[in-house]
Amino acid sequence: MESRLCRWGIAGAGAIARRFCHDITRFARQSKVVAIAARESARADTFAADHGVARAHGSYRALAEDGEVDAVYVAVIHPQHGAVVRLMLEHGKHVLVEKPAVLSVAEWDELTTLAHARGVLLLEAMKVMCFPAWRALWAQLPERGQPHHLEAAFGSQVTGDGKLFDAALAGGANWDVGVYGLWLYAALCRRFSLPACPPVVMRKMGPSGVDLQSWYRFEGAFSARIGAAIDEDLPRHARLEGEGWGLEIVGKWWNPQQIRWDDGTEILMPVEGGLQFEADHLAELRAAGALDSPWLPQAVSRQVIGWLAAAACA
Ligand SMILES: NC(=O)c1ccc[n+]([C@@H]2O[C@H](COP(=O)([O-])OP(=O)(O)OC[C@H]3O[C@@H](n4cnc5c(N)ncnc54)[C@H](OP(=O)(O)O)[C@@H]3O)[C@@H](O)[C@H]2O)c1
Repeated sequence: MESRLCRWGIAGAGAIARRFCHDITRFARQSKVVAIAARESARADTFAADHGVARAHGSYRALAEDGEVDAVYVAVIHPQHGAVVRLMLEHGKHVLVEKPAVLSVAEWDELTTLAHARGVLLLEAMKVMCFPAWRALWAQLPERGQPHHLEAAFGSQVTGDGKLFDAALAGGANWDVGVYGLWLYAALCRRFSLPACPPVVMRKMGPSGVDLQSWYRFEGAFSARIGAAIDEDLPRHARLEGEGWGLEIVGKWWNPQQIRWDDGTEILMPVEGGLQFEADHLAELRAAGALDSPWLPQAVSRQVIGWLAAAACA
């Protein structure tokens, strides 16, 4: 059995990498960041100095070759995910890749096959699934029965992040934040063994050729309306309903900490940080020798990537 402490390297010294490093350093129980890699040494050095990380690498390859690293958090922009994930898997690293994991089902299939062949984990960092409140909800849901309808959106008026408005960098609301609501829906379908048919998609395009908004409508026994926007603040709570019951994930549903059932009962599990849960989850799976996750199943990533890729062409 592997040691329970997972030694993490981070590929890409950008915004989310800083949050991940912060949350792990302060709040993780089985994870420690030991290395950072950036395309330029200076960026890695600055990151390492700022966060007290032991080793800084001036290339992703050097991180892949670092024998003191067990798992790599891939925190580069979406179009670079696939190549960096492949590099890490080829060097026997476990991988937690930021959302959206990759931009095509074919690439995801190739990478999961490679991960299995190398005996390592490849998981998409869908943090909501690893929050304690979400897990508590998961345990309670079957008592209430199958859900019939979901409403969830993730939208904010973005200013100044050029990559989100750049079609060549897979910008747009669909890839950036549509992934969250689609994951929620797909995970619920899986939990209740419900068929998840592809959604009807409506898009609002911007002048740079990316979708400023994408709306996904699922029909059938479990219907849903999922929203994504980079040009408008959308409601932050999510609502789920079944026969005779309903609940609201209060506040930012993608950081679930308070869930209120319509009957007045509540799940209240406030946390500090948030990204430590996904890191510790991978650490636990690694220690157990698992090659997939019950909370971040590769099959759900695959389904969501398919929907996102189809929506991107709608
Ligand atoms: N889970 C969450 O809550 C969350 C939140 C935000 C973002 N994300 C995801 O995390 C990933 C990174 O997002 P971010 O906001 O952290 O991005 P970012 O800061 O803009 O960029 C991350 C890194 O990507 C590399 N990079 C940036 N622009 C590039 C370009 N034009 N060509 C090649 N490489 C480039 C850089 O790596 P070097 O440092 O090596 O130069 C940069 O540090 C995205 O996939 C995003 O969807 C997740």
